[in-house]
Amino acid sequence: MTIPAHIAESVVDPKAYADWDRSHEAFAWLRKNAPLDVAEIEGFDPFWVVSKHADIQAIERQNDLFHNEDRSATLTNIETDKKVREMMGGSPNLLRSLVQMDNPDHMQYRRLTQAWFMPQNLRKLEDRIREIARGFIDKMADKNGECDFARDVAFLYPLHVIMEVLGVPEIDEPRMLKLTQELFGAQDPEVNRSGQEISDADTGLANIQATVADFFTYFMEMTEDRRRNPREDLGSVIANGEVYGKPLGHLEAMSYYIIAATAGHDTTSNTTAGALWALAENQDQFRKLKEDLSLIPSMVEESIRWETPVKHFMRTATDDTEVHGKKIRKGDWLFLAYPSGNRDEDVFDDPYSFRIDRSPNKHVAFGYGAHVCLGQHLGRMEMRILWEELLPRLKSVELAGKPTRVKANFVSGPKSIPIRYEMN
Ligand code: HEM
Repeated sequence: MTIPAHIAESVVDPKAYADWDRSHEAFAWLRKNAPLDVAEIEGFDPFWVVSKHADIQAIERQNDLFHNEDRSATLTNIETDKKVREMMGGSPNLLRSLVQMDNPDHMQYRRLTQAWFMPQNLRKLEDRIREIARGFIDKMADKNGECDFARDVAFLYPLHVIMEVLGVPEIDEPRMLKLTQELFGAQDPEVNRSGQEISDADTGLANIQATVADFFTYFMEMTEDRRRNPREDLGSVIANGEVYGKPLGHLEAMSYYIIAATAGHDTTSNTTAGALWALAENQDQFRKLKEDLSLIPSMVEESIRWETPVKHFMRTATDDTEVHGKKIRKGDWLFLAYPSGNRDEDVFDDPYSFRIDRSPNKHVAFGYGAHVCLGQHLGRMEMRILWEELLPRLKSVELAGKPTRVKANFVSGPKSIPIRYEMN
């Protein structure tokens, strides 16, 4: 069977992710009635929607059988795919960063920064990240008990952390803020570069292209600077790294900076904002956390499951195979629905409840297998530090208006969360 049109639309439509209930209802329907089936939507090549946790993991585990590079690694309509291939000499991806590579290249390029992202190396950043967190919390305390937590704290704090990590100077904050907003918010007229409403299926290619072009020069200068004056930062690791015995080219270095700057920003911002929203709506969980701050790491893990900021990645089958009893043909395209895997009733008790002490919590929000999130330890660490600093000072918090979400079907989360609070 193919998936009914209205359900398939909800999987694709950026507005459904802004609605949240609409996309979760569609995924719940899929898990129950069509756990692995084909979506046929006008303007798109058909693709399988993978809605069960076990199937997402099984596909991600078989890295040679399910590739990232053969077709676009994110959901793209036929028109966009054609334009990108024309521009990129046949390649379906606008950038060739880690998420758009397969082995042997993927392993070689990932190895370049893998040790840098390990917890033992990240420890050296802890004090500086704590200082950044305190700065935002002090500003929150100065706001007379009302702020927009998404805009004033959650969106900026991880941006400052990733700028510190890459070695981007503070003066470039407005420019870096635009980078993520314009790339991941390309489908949302309130966030994207053109300020224009775009059709439901559009991936916002024109907006993305213009933003990438802007950053090419910026990161090229950074590469040259770090080659002349290497520092301790990740920017220097990328600029001076060698793959197959040769330094990275400018385009390769820029793709590496862009994946680190964007993947390291919006994902953590959305999760942080989603956590506060969930705590404000679940006062019993807020009180429980206040009484026992040792629950912060498990609250962070639950907020990653709860928000699941990366809504999908695509894979392409490299051979005929079978998943969930379905025959997958060589060349078939598959949509890994992470938010659906993270509400799977076969894996999580009471999956629609936000439980700060959920254990085990084997969510798939960081993906799985060879491409599993490289920045997961950094993301966890910076969120833990923010809550360790904020919770002892936050006496009460409640919603002061209706939160809104970004319209985007790839990476998305809260856009605005008006709150009222008391702080020490
Ligand atoms: C890859 C989620 C934070 C850097 C990914 C993937 C997901 C993800 C789903 C793809 C995994 C797959 O295909 O199996 C998240 C979430 C985060 C987060 C939910 C925070 C809550 C970060 C941070 C960084 C980062 C802080 C730091 C720079 C990356 C990179 C990749 C990646 C470089 C590509 C890895 C590869 O393809 O080998 N992330 N991420 N992420 N993430 Fe994260």
